[in-house]
Amino acid sequence: MHYYDFVTEFLLTLWGDYLHFIPHCMSSKKGIEKGVTYHEAFNSYIAGKLKIDESGRILELGCGSGSITRSVAKFSKAEVTGITLSDEEIQHFKKQVEKMKLKNCDVVKGDYHDLPFKENEFDGGYAIYCLKYSAKLGRVFKEVSRVLKPGGRFVSYELLLTDKFDSNNKEHKELAWNISFLTGMPALYTISEFRKLAEENGLRIVEEEEISTPEDRWYYDIQVLMPFANVFWYVAPVMETFRLLPKGFSRWYRRHIFTCVNSIYQAGRKGILSGSLVFVLSKEN
Ligand SMILES: C[S@@+](CC[C@H](N)C(=O)[O-])C[C@H]1O[C@@H](n2cnc3c(N)ncnc32)[C@H](O)[C@@H]1O
Repeated sequence: MHYYDFVTEFLLTLWGDYLHFIPHCMSSKKGIEKGVTYHEAFNSYIAGKLKIDESGRILELGCGSGSITRSVAKFSKAEVTGITLSDEEIQHFKKQVEKMKLKNCDVVKGDYHDLPFKENEFDGGYAIYCLKYSAKLGRVFKEVSRVLKPGGRFVSYELLLTDKFDSNNKEHKELAWNISFLTGMPALYTISEFRKLAEENGLRIVEEEEISTPEDRWYYDIQVLMPFANVFWYVAPVMETFRLLPKGFSRWYRRHIFTCVNSIYQAGRKGILSGSLVFVLSKEN
């Protein structure tokens, strides 16, 4: 069973359908429509970076249940196709698209290491918090470069290790390990590795923008959650004893949810993990 087949229902109930972090200051960014949420503001910003009009086709890698897909389809008016490995996510994706009667977004099951599309099929593309699942990032970039038209743009937004990360520092290593391995991911890439792999595989870096501000960091949503997560560390075993939670839940929660989320927060605070760096890449002409 795919990891996201197992966790999708749980995540949608507990967290919602945006599986990435956005600094709240996004909604007050220049050029963003007034009154939209920070998630919508981010999606509109991504759509804007792609510079594609309604006649274009956009590819979204690792689209989850389609929350960003629907929004980018709305802002760009282009046709947006999402790809994911998970049947559970595809089911949620299709249900929402049908409910909203959207004609310009669809989803395909597949692996981004081996895209089921022809050469030069898309005018642009993007990937949000999903390339961290790849142990072969160079291959993904090569595939993106194959399916994009020459000059097509690709926007990427990921969790990446910063230059402050020291692989000889025990605490840094432990935080990075907690984030990746406890959620079934390979080791996180550093920003430098990311740049190098993109450029080696036909994608030129056009722009790099840090969207967090010193007052409003990308991990704010976890920061406010941590006191509750701490309390639940103690409450979960009691609930388990009274059979209000299934056997083994508290062990799973402490290791795979609490430790992982807390490590993302700590690594973000220490500046060794970046969660809000936007890359705009472009396929060579
Ligand atoms: C953390 S979720 C992010 C979902 C969405 N992009 C968001 O930010 O809300 C990671 C997504 O990547 C997808 N994914 C992971 N590995 C993949 C692969 N090899 N090919 C396609 N999708 C993949 C998962 O199924 C999931 O949809």
